Amino acid sequence: MSTVFYNPMINSTLQKKVFLETYGCQMNEYDSELVRSILKKENYAFVADESAADIVMLNTCAIREHAHRKVYGRVHSIRHTRGKDNPVMIGILGCMATNLRQDLLEDRSLKIDFIAGPDSYKRLPQLIHEASDEGQKSYDVTLSEFETYSDINPSRKEGVNAWIAVMRGCNNFCTFCVVPYTRGRERSRSPENVVDEVRRLVTEGFKQVTLLGQNVNSYRYDDYDFAYLMDEVSKVNGIERIRFTSPHPKDFPDRFLELMAVNPKICKHIHLPLQAGNNRVLDMMNRTYTKEEFLNLVDKIRTKIPKVALTTDIIVGFPTETDEEFEDTLKLVAKVQFDSAFTFKYSERQGTVASKKYPDDVPEAIKTERIMRLNEIQKEITFKKNQEHIGQEFQILIEPTPKDKPSTNTVGRTDGNKLVILPQNGHKMGDLIKVIITDATPHSLKGIIK
Ligand code: 5AD
Ligand code: SF4
Repeated sequence: MSTVFYNPMINSTLQKKVFLETYGCQMNEYDSELVRSILKKENYAFVADESAADIVMLNTCAIREHAHRKVYGRVHSIRHTRGKDNPVMIGILGCMATNLRQDLLEDRSLKIDFIAGPDSYKRLPQLIHEASDEGQKSYDVTLSEFETYSDINPSRKEGVNAWIAVMRGCNNFCTFCVVPYTRGRERSRSPENVVDEVRRLVTEGFKQVTLLGQNVNSYRYDDYDFAYLMDEVSKVNGIERIRFTSPHPKDFPDRFLELMAVNPKICKHIHLPLQAGNNRVLDMMNRTYTKEEFLNLVDKIRTKIPKVALTTDIIVGFPTETDEEFEDTLKLVAKVQFDSAFTFKYSERQGTVASKKYPDDVPEAIKTERIMRLNEIQKEITFKKNQEHIGQEFQILIEPTPKDKPSTNTVGRTDGNKLVILPQNGHKMGDLIKVIITDATPHSLKGIIK
Protein backbone atom coordinates (compact mmCIF):
# COMPACT_ATOMS: atom_id res chain seq x y z
CA MET A 1 0.00 0.00 0.00
CA SER A 2 1.41 3.44 -0.88
CA THR A 3 1.82 6.17 1.70
CA VAL A 4 -0.81 8.90 1.85
CA PHE A 5 0.45 11.95 3.71
CA TYR A 6 -1.68 14.07 5.99
CA ASN A 7 -2.10 17.51 4.48
CA PRO A 8 -3.99 20.29 6.27
CA MET A 9 -4.37 22.27 3.04
CA ILE A 10 -6.00 19.55 1.05
CA ASN A 11 -8.27 16.68 1.88
CA SER A 12 -5.82 14.16 3.29
CA THR A 13 -7.82 11.01 2.81
CA LEU A 14 -8.21 11.44 -0.93
CA GLN A 15 -5.64 10.77 -3.56
CA LYS A 16 -3.87 14.06 -4.22
CA LYS A 17 -4.31 15.47 -7.68
CA VAL A 18 -1.31 16.92 -9.46
CA PHE A 19 -1.23 19.14 -12.50
CA LEU A 20 2.25 19.10 -14.07
CA GLU A 21 3.28 21.59 -16.73
CA THR A 22 6.57 21.30 -18.60
CA TYR A 23 8.67 24.05 -20.16
CA GLY A 24 11.82 23.93 -22.27
CA CYS A 25 13.74 21.09 -23.81
CA GLN A 26 13.17 17.39 -24.38
CA MET A 27 15.20 16.57 -21.28
CA ASN A 28 12.58 18.40 -19.23
CA GLU A 29 9.78 16.47 -20.96
CA TYR A 30 11.63 13.29 -20.06
CA ASP A 31 12.13 14.44 -16.47
CA SER A 32 8.39 15.08 -16.20
CA GLU A 33 7.86 11.45 -17.20
CA LEU A 34 10.18 10.47 -14.34
CA VAL A 35 8.29 12.71 -11.92
CA ARG A 36 4.97 11.16 -12.96
CA SER A 37 6.36 7.72 -12.33
CA ILE A 38 7.83 8.64 -8.92
CA LEU A 39 4.63 10.29 -7.69
CA LYS A 40 2.22 7.71 -9.09
CA LYS A 41 4.01 5.11 -6.94
CA GLU A 42 3.14 7.29 -3.94
CA ASN A 43 -0.53 7.31 -4.87
CA TYR A 44 -0.70 10.73 -6.48
CA ALA A 45 -3.02 11.12 -9.47
CA PHE A 46 -2.27 13.34 -12.46
CA VAL A 47 -5.02 15.57 -13.83
CA ALA A 48 -5.27 17.43 -17.13
CA ASP A 49 -7.34 20.24 -15.65
CA GLU A 50 -5.40 22.68 -13.50
CA SER A 51 -8.49 23.86 -11.65
CA ALA A 52 -9.03 20.32 -10.33
CA ALA A 53 -5.50 20.03 -8.91
CA ASP A 54 -4.40 20.10 -5.28
CA ILE A 55 -0.81 20.64 -6.36
CA VAL A 56 0.47 22.46 -9.44
CA MET A 57 4.05 21.75 -10.47
CA LEU A 58 5.92 23.68 -13.11
CA ASN A 59 8.93 21.90 -14.56
CA THR A 60 10.92 24.92 -15.62
CA CYS A 61 13.65 25.96 -18.01
CA ALA A 62 16.32 28.60 -17.37
CA ILE A 63 18.07 28.62 -20.72
CA ARG A 64 16.74 31.96 -21.93
CA GLU A 65 15.09 34.91 -20.24
CA HIS A 66 11.89 34.38 -22.12
CA ALA A 67 11.47 30.94 -20.52
CA HIS A 68 11.90 32.17 -16.99
CA ARG A 69 9.68 35.22 -17.32
CA LYS A 70 6.93 32.94 -18.56
CA VAL A 71 7.12 30.86 -15.38
CA TYR A 72 6.92 33.89 -13.07
CA GLY A 73 3.85 35.07 -14.99
CA ARG A 74 2.32 31.63 -14.76
CA VAL A 75 2.74 31.37 -10.98
CA HIS A 76 1.08 34.77 -10.49
CA SER A 77 -1.78 33.83 -12.75
CA ILE A 78 -2.38 30.50 -10.95
CA ARG A 79 -2.45 32.28 -7.58
CA HIS A 80 -4.80 34.89 -8.96
CA THR A 81 -7.19 32.40 -10.55
CA ARG A 82 -7.39 30.15 -7.52
CA GLY A 83 -7.83 33.07 -5.08
CA LYS A 84 -7.95 32.73 -1.30
CA ASP A 85 -10.94 30.39 -1.17
CA ASN A 86 -9.47 27.67 -3.33
CA PRO A 87 -5.74 27.58 -2.51
CA VAL A 88 -3.34 25.28 -4.28
CA MET A 89 0.19 24.15 -3.52
CA ILE A 90 2.73 25.26 -6.11
CA GLY A 91 6.04 23.52 -6.68
CA ILE A 92 8.85 24.59 -8.98
CA LEU A 93 10.93 21.85 -10.56
CA GLY A 94 13.76 21.82 -13.09
CA CYS A 95 16.47 24.24 -14.11
CA MET A 96 14.94 27.44 -12.77
CA ALA A 97 14.60 25.75 -9.43
CA THR A 98 18.33 25.33 -9.12
CA ASN A 99 19.26 28.70 -10.50
CA LEU A 100 16.72 30.87 -8.78
CA ARG A 101 16.25 29.06 -5.47
CA GLN A 102 17.02 32.14 -3.41
CA ASP A 103 14.77 34.50 -5.39
CA LEU A 104 11.95 32.03 -5.35
CA LEU A 105 12.03 31.47 -1.63
CA GLU A 106 12.41 35.16 -0.82
CA ASP A 107 9.82 36.55 -3.23
CA ARG A 108 6.77 36.41 -0.95
CA SER A 109 4.43 37.46 -3.69
CA LEU A 110 5.19 34.24 -5.59
CA LYS A 111 4.28 31.99 -2.67
CA ILE A 112 6.15 28.89 -3.81
CA ASP A 113 5.61 25.91 -1.51
CA PHE A 114 8.39 23.61 -2.62
CA ILE A 115 11.32 23.46 -5.01
CA ALA A 116 13.07 20.43 -6.50
CA GLY A 117 16.10 20.62 -8.78
CA PRO A 118 16.74 18.14 -11.62
CA ASP A 119 18.63 15.68 -9.41
CA SER A 120 16.12 15.71 -6.52
CA TYR A 121 12.98 14.21 -8.00
CA LYS A 122 13.16 11.08 -5.87
CA ARG A 123 12.77 13.36 -2.85
CA LEU A 124 9.59 14.98 -4.18
CA PRO A 125 7.18 12.97 -1.99
CA GLN A 126 9.20 14.05 1.05
CA LEU A 127 9.36 17.70 -0.05
CA ILE A 128 5.60 17.81 -0.65
CA HIS A 129 5.06 16.19 2.73
CA GLU A 130 7.23 18.78 4.49
CA ALA A 131 5.53 21.67 2.72
CA SER A 132 2.01 20.41 3.34
CA ASP A 133 2.31 18.88 6.81
CA GLU A 134 4.53 21.45 8.39
CA GLY A 135 3.39 24.34 6.24
CA GLN A 136 7.06 25.10 5.57
CA LYS A 137 8.69 25.95 2.31
CA SER A 138 10.82 22.96 1.40
CA TYR A 139 13.50 22.58 -1.20
CA ASP A 140 16.26 20.36 -2.49
CA VAL A 141 18.39 21.63 -5.33
CA THR A 142 21.47 19.55 -4.60
CA LEU A 143 23.30 18.52 -7.75
CA SER A 144 24.51 14.95 -7.86
CA GLU A 145 27.58 13.43 -9.50
CA PHE A 146 25.72 10.12 -9.78
CA GLU A 147 21.95 10.45 -10.17
CA THR A 148 20.85 9.09 -13.55
CA TYR A 149 17.38 7.80 -12.53
CA SER A 150 18.39 4.50 -14.09
CA ASP A 151 16.09 2.68 -11.64
CA ILE A 152 12.97 4.67 -12.56
CA ASN A 153 10.72 3.56 -15.40
CA PRO A 154 9.39 6.84 -16.85
CA SER A 155 5.63 7.14 -17.18
CA ARG A 156 5.46 7.74 -20.93
CA LYS A 157 2.57 8.73 -23.15
CA GLU A 158 1.92 6.20 -25.88
CA GLY A 159 3.35 6.98 -29.28
CA VAL A 160 5.96 5.75 -31.70
CA ASN A 161 8.97 7.46 -30.15
CA ALA A 162 10.32 7.01 -26.64
CA TRP A 163 12.95 9.33 -25.22
CA ILE A 164 15.70 7.82 -23.07
CA ALA A 165 18.14 10.01 -21.17
CA VAL A 166 21.41 8.10 -21.40
CA MET A 167 23.56 10.80 -19.86
CA ARG A 168 22.84 13.94 -17.85
CA GLY A 169 24.74 17.15 -17.13
CA CYS A 170 27.43 19.05 -18.96
CA ASN A 171 31.17 19.65 -18.41
CA ASN A 172 31.69 22.10 -21.26
CA PHE A 173 30.87 25.46 -19.72
CA CYS A 174 30.09 27.37 -22.89
CA THR A 175 30.24 30.89 -21.48
CA PHE A 176 26.62 31.77 -22.38
CA CYS A 177 25.03 28.64 -20.99
CA VAL A 178 23.43 28.04 -17.63
CA VAL A 179 23.06 24.26 -18.02
CA PRO A 180 26.32 23.23 -16.27
CA TYR A 181 25.12 25.21 -13.21
CA THR A 182 21.53 24.02 -13.24
CA ARG A 183 22.15 20.39 -14.15
CA GLY A 184 25.64 19.68 -12.87
CA ARG A 185 28.35 17.39 -14.19
CA GLU A 186 28.17 14.69 -16.84
CA ARG A 187 27.24 11.18 -15.80
CA SER A 188 26.04 8.23 -17.87
CA ARG A 189 23.90 5.15 -17.41
CA SER A 190 25.38 1.73 -18.06
CA PRO A 191 24.86 0.27 -21.55
CA GLU A 192 23.09 -2.78 -20.07
CA ASN A 193 20.64 -0.57 -18.23
CA VAL A 194 19.84 1.44 -21.39
CA VAL A 195 19.49 -1.70 -23.52
CA ASP A 196 17.15 -3.27 -20.94
CA GLU A 197 14.97 -0.20 -21.14
CA VAL A 198 14.93 -0.31 -24.94
CA ARG A 199 13.84 -3.99 -24.80
CA ARG A 200 11.01 -3.06 -22.45
CA LEU A 201 9.98 -0.21 -24.78
CA VAL A 202 9.62 -2.65 -27.66
CA THR A 203 7.20 -4.72 -25.61
CA GLU A 204 5.25 -1.52 -24.92
CA GLY A 205 4.90 -0.90 -28.66
CA PHE A 206 7.51 1.81 -29.30
CA LYS A 207 9.22 1.67 -32.69
CA GLN A 208 11.76 4.46 -32.30
CA VAL A 209 14.02 5.58 -29.47
CA THR A 210 15.77 8.91 -29.18
CA LEU A 211 18.81 8.86 -26.94
CA LEU A 212 18.97 12.07 -24.99
CA GLY A 213 21.68 13.99 -23.17
CA GLN A 214 22.99 17.53 -22.79
CA ASN A 215 26.06 16.26 -24.68
CA VAL A 216 24.76 12.93 -25.75
CA ASN A 217 27.82 11.92 -27.76
CA SER A 218 30.08 12.55 -24.74
CA TYR A 219 28.38 9.48 -23.24
CA ARG A 220 30.93 7.39 -21.37
CA TYR A 221 30.45 4.50 -18.98
CA ASP A 222 33.70 2.79 -17.94
CA ASP A 223 35.38 2.14 -21.30
CA TYR A 224 32.13 2.22 -23.28
CA ASP A 225 31.54 5.20 -25.54
CA PHE A 226 28.56 6.51 -27.50
CA ALA A 227 29.32 4.45 -30.61
CA TYR A 228 29.27 1.27 -28.49
CA LEU A 229 25.97 2.29 -26.90
CA MET A 230 24.31 3.05 -30.25
CA ASP A 231 25.50 -0.23 -31.67
CA GLU A 232 24.13 -2.17 -28.70
CA VAL A 233 20.78 -0.36 -28.85
CA SER A 234 20.50 -1.08 -32.56
CA LYS A 235 20.80 -4.82 -31.87
CA VAL A 236 17.49 -4.82 -29.97
CA ASN A 237 14.88 -6.62 -32.09
CA GLY A 238 11.75 -4.59 -32.76
CA ILE A 239 13.37 -1.15 -32.60
CA GLU A 240 13.20 0.25 -36.11
CA ARG A 241 14.80 3.65 -35.71
CA ILE A 242 17.30 5.31 -33.40
CA ARG A 243 17.88 9.04 -33.07
CA PHE A 244 20.00 11.09 -30.69
CA THR A 245 20.13 14.67 -29.44
CA SER A 246 21.98 16.93 -28.73
CA PRO A 247 25.58 16.20 -29.55
CA HIS A 248 28.59 18.53 -29.27
CA PRO A 249 30.82 18.92 -32.36
CA LYS A 250 33.89 17.94 -30.31
CA ASP A 251 32.88 14.27 -29.97
CA PHE A 252 32.49 12.77 -33.45
CA PRO A 253 35.12 10.07 -33.82
CA ASP A 254 35.35 8.36 -37.24
CA ARG A 255 34.20 5.12 -35.66
CA PHE A 256 30.88 6.67 -34.72
CA LEU A 257 30.28 8.21 -38.16
CA GLU A 258 31.19 4.91 -39.83
CA LEU A 259 28.70 3.10 -37.61
CA MET A 260 26.02 5.67 -38.49
CA ALA A 261 26.74 5.24 -42.19
CA VAL A 262 26.31 1.46 -42.23
CA ASN A 263 23.72 0.85 -39.55
CA PRO A 264 20.26 1.05 -41.16
CA LYS A 265 18.49 1.65 -37.85
CA ILE A 266 20.45 4.81 -37.00
CA CYS A 267 18.68 7.76 -38.61
CA LYS A 268 20.86 9.85 -40.89
CA HIS A 269 20.27 13.09 -39.07
CA ILE A 270 22.72 15.03 -36.92
CA HIS A 271 21.80 18.11 -34.93
CA LEU A 272 25.13 19.93 -34.86
CA PRO A 273 25.01 23.15 -32.83
CA LEU A 274 27.18 25.81 -34.48
CA GLN A 275 26.29 28.80 -32.21
CA ALA A 276 28.39 31.32 -34.22
CA GLY A 277 30.40 31.52 -37.43
CA ASN A 278 33.19 33.82 -36.28
CA ASN A 279 36.33 32.56 -34.55
CA ARG A 280 36.67 35.40 -32.05
CA VAL A 281 33.05 34.92 -30.95
CA LEU A 282 33.40 31.12 -30.86
CA ASP A 283 36.46 31.53 -28.65
CA MET A 284 34.63 33.93 -26.31
CA MET A 285 31.81 31.39 -26.17
CA ASN A 286 34.33 28.66 -25.22
CA ARG A 287 32.98 26.38 -27.93
CA THR A 288 36.46 24.81 -28.37
CA TYR A 289 36.35 24.75 -32.18
CA THR A 290 37.04 27.24 -34.95
CA LYS A 291 34.77 27.77 -37.94
CA GLU A 292 37.35 25.92 -40.07
CA GLU A 293 37.22 22.93 -37.73
CA PHE A 294 33.43 23.00 -37.83
CA LEU A 295 33.49 23.05 -41.64
CA ASN A 296 35.98 20.17 -41.71
CA LEU A 297 33.66 18.18 -39.47
CA VAL A 298 30.70 18.92 -41.77
CA ASP A 299 32.78 17.74 -44.76
CA LYS A 300 33.83 14.60 -42.94
CA ILE A 301 30.22 13.84 -41.95
CA ARG A 302 28.96 14.38 -45.49
CA THR A 303 31.72 12.27 -47.01
CA LYS A 304 30.98 9.36 -44.71
CA ILE A 305 27.17 9.76 -44.69
CA PRO A 306 26.28 11.44 -48.01
CA LYS A 307 22.51 11.74 -47.45
CA VAL A 308 22.76 13.04 -43.90
CA ALA A 309 20.41 15.82 -42.74
CA LEU A 310 22.16 18.48 -40.66
CA THR A 311 20.39 20.90 -38.34
CA THR A 312 21.83 23.42 -35.92
CA ASP A 313 21.48 26.01 -33.14
CA ILE A 314 22.73 29.58 -33.59
CA ILE A 315 22.93 32.51 -31.16
CA VAL A 316 22.96 36.09 -32.48
CA GLY A 317 24.09 39.16 -30.55
CA PHE A 318 26.59 37.51 -28.22
CA PRO A 319 28.38 40.32 -26.27
CA THR A 320 30.66 42.45 -28.50
CA GLU A 321 29.57 40.63 -31.71
CA THR A 322 30.08 43.17 -34.52
CA ASP A 323 28.13 43.45 -37.76
CA GLU A 324 31.08 41.90 -39.64
CA GLU A 325 31.28 39.02 -37.19
CA PHE A 326 27.56 38.39 -37.58
CA GLU A 327 28.09 38.41 -41.37
CA ASP A 328 30.58 35.56 -40.82
CA THR A 329 27.74 33.55 -39.27
CA LEU A 330 25.54 34.26 -42.30
CA LYS A 331 28.36 33.20 -44.64
CA LEU A 332 28.88 29.97 -42.75
CA VAL A 333 25.16 29.22 -42.78
CA ALA A 334 25.10 29.78 -46.55
CA LYS A 335 28.14 27.55 -46.96
CA VAL A 336 26.99 24.64 -44.79
CA GLN A 337 23.36 24.62 -46.01
CA PHE A 338 21.77 23.20 -42.86
CA ASP A 339 18.40 21.52 -43.32
CA SER A 340 17.02 23.75 -40.58
CA ALA A 341 18.17 25.86 -37.66
CA PHE A 342 16.96 26.93 -34.23
CA THR A 343 18.00 30.55 -33.80
CA PHE A 344 18.20 32.55 -30.58
CA LYS A 345 18.97 36.07 -29.45
CA TYR A 346 21.66 36.04 -26.79
CA SER A 347 20.16 36.31 -23.34
CA GLU A 348 22.37 36.92 -20.30
CA ARG A 349 22.03 34.14 -17.72
CA GLN A 350 22.85 34.62 -14.08
CA GLY A 351 26.01 32.82 -12.93
CA THR A 352 27.49 32.16 -16.38
CA VAL A 353 31.02 33.25 -17.31
CA ALA A 354 29.62 35.56 -20.00
CA SER A 355 27.37 37.30 -17.47
CA LYS A 356 30.41 38.03 -15.28
CA LYS A 357 32.95 38.92 -17.97
CA TYR A 358 31.05 40.40 -20.90
CA PRO A 359 28.37 43.09 -20.63
CA ASP A 360 25.29 42.28 -22.75
CA ASP A 361 26.10 45.20 -25.07
CA VAL A 362 24.40 44.35 -28.37
CA PRO A 363 21.18 46.41 -28.42
CA GLU A 364 17.93 44.47 -28.57
CA ALA A 365 16.99 46.13 -31.88
CA ILE A 366 20.22 44.87 -33.46
CA LYS A 367 19.67 41.37 -32.10
CA THR A 368 16.18 41.43 -33.62
CA GLU A 369 17.48 42.64 -36.96
CA ARG A 370 20.19 39.95 -36.98
CA ILE A 371 17.87 37.10 -36.10
CA MET A 372 15.41 38.20 -38.78
CA ARG A 373 18.12 38.27 -41.44
CA LEU A 374 19.40 34.90 -40.34
CA ASN A 375 15.92 33.39 -40.31
CA GLU A 376 15.22 34.77 -43.77
CA ILE A 377 18.33 33.13 -45.22
CA GLN A 378 17.78 29.85 -43.40
CA LYS A 379 14.13 29.72 -44.45
CA GLU A 380 15.16 29.85 -48.11
CA ILE A 381 17.76 27.14 -47.59
CA THR A 382 15.27 24.93 -45.75
CA PHE A 383 12.71 25.45 -48.52
CA LYS A 384 15.27 24.62 -51.20
CA LYS A 385 16.40 21.51 -49.28
CA ASN A 386 12.78 20.41 -48.90
CA GLN A 387 12.13 20.95 -52.63
CA GLU A 388 15.07 18.69 -53.44
CA HIS A 389 12.99 15.85 -51.96
CA ILE A 390 10.29 16.17 -54.63
CA GLY A 391 10.03 13.10 -56.86
CA GLN A 392 12.16 10.98 -54.54
CA GLU A 393 11.18 7.91 -52.58
CA PHE A 394 11.48 7.78 -48.77
CA GLN A 395 10.54 5.43 -46.00
CA ILE A 396 8.53 7.18 -43.32
CA LEU A 397 7.48 6.15 -39.84
CA ILE A 398 3.84 7.05 -39.17
CA GLU A 399 3.30 9.23 -36.11
CA PRO A 400 0.19 10.38 -34.28
CA THR A 401 -1.37 13.23 -36.31
CA PRO A 402 -0.46 16.54 -34.62
CA LYS A 403 -3.36 18.60 -33.25
CA ASP A 404 -2.75 21.41 -35.76
CA LYS A 405 -3.19 19.07 -38.76
CA PRO A 406 -6.57 17.85 -40.03
CA SER A 407 -7.44 14.35 -38.82
CA THR A 408 -7.96 13.41 -42.48
CA ASN A 409 -4.17 13.47 -42.84
CA THR A 410 -1.63 10.81 -42.02
CA VAL A 411 1.79 12.12 -40.99
CA GLY A 412 5.18 10.54 -40.69
CA ARG A 413 8.87 11.38 -40.70
CA THR A 414 11.70 10.54 -43.02
CA ASP A 415 14.99 9.22 -41.74
CA GLY A 416 16.26 12.84 -41.98
CA ASN A 417 13.44 13.94 -39.66
CA LYS A 418 11.34 15.75 -42.28
CA LEU A 419 7.62 15.80 -41.63
CA VAL A 420 5.62 14.23 -44.49
CA ILE A 421 1.88 14.77 -44.81
CA LEU A 422 -0.23 12.28 -46.75
CA PRO A 423 -3.93 11.85 -47.41
CA GLN A 424 -5.28 9.40 -44.83
CA ASN A 425 -4.53 5.94 -46.09
CA GLY A 426 -5.39 3.26 -43.57
CA HIS A 427 -1.85 2.98 -42.28
CA LYS A 428 -1.54 3.40 -38.54
CA MET A 429 0.88 4.88 -36.06
CA GLY A 430 4.13 2.88 -35.98
CA ASP A 431 3.91 1.59 -39.57
CA LEU A 432 6.93 2.10 -41.82
CA ILE A 433 5.78 2.87 -45.34
CA LYS A 434 7.32 3.93 -48.64
CA VAL A 435 6.20 7.26 -50.09
CA ILE A 436 6.97 9.48 -53.04
CA ILE A 437 7.31 13.18 -52.27
CA THR A 438 5.02 15.31 -54.43
CA ASP A 439 5.36 18.79 -52.97
CA ALA A 440 7.28 20.82 -50.39
CA THR A 441 6.78 23.89 -48.21
CA PRO A 442 9.43 25.50 -45.97
CA HIS A 443 8.00 23.46 -43.07
CA SER A 444 7.01 20.06 -44.42
CA LEU A 445 6.70 17.70 -47.36
CA LYS A 446 3.63 16.28 -49.07
CA GLY A 447 3.59 12.75 -50.36
CA ILE A 448 1.66 9.81 -51.69
CA ILE A 449 2.06 6.12 -50.97
CA LYS A 450 4.35 4.36 -53.38
N1 5AD B 1 21.14 32.85 -24.86
C1 5AD B 1 20.63 32.47 -26.05
N2 5AD B 1 20.60 31.19 -26.47
C2 5AD B 1 21.13 30.26 -25.65
N3 5AD B 1 21.25 28.92 -25.78
C3 5AD B 1 21.83 28.44 -24.67
N4 5AD B 1 22.08 29.45 -23.80
C4 5AD B 1 21.66 30.58 -24.39
C5 5AD B 1 21.67 31.95 -24.01
N5 5AD B 1 22.17 32.35 -22.85
C6 5AD B 1 20.85 28.19 -26.98
C7 5AD B 1 22.07 27.49 -27.63
C8 5AD B 1 21.83 26.04 -27.30
C9 5AD B 1 20.32 25.97 -27.29
C10 5AD B 1 19.75 24.79 -26.62
O1 5AD B 1 19.94 27.16 -26.63
O2 5AD B 1 22.00 27.71 -29.02
O3 5AD B 1 22.41 25.15 -28.24
FE1 SF4 C 1 25.23 24.49 -22.59
FE2 SF4 C 1 27.49 24.29 -24.04
FE3 SF4 C 1 26.82 22.36 -22.27
FE4 SF4 C 1 25.38 22.63 -24.52
S1 SF4 C 1 27.58 22.08 -24.40
S2 SF4 C 1 24.56 22.34 -22.43
S3 SF4 C 1 25.44 24.86 -24.82
S4 SF4 C 1 27.35 24.47 -21.78
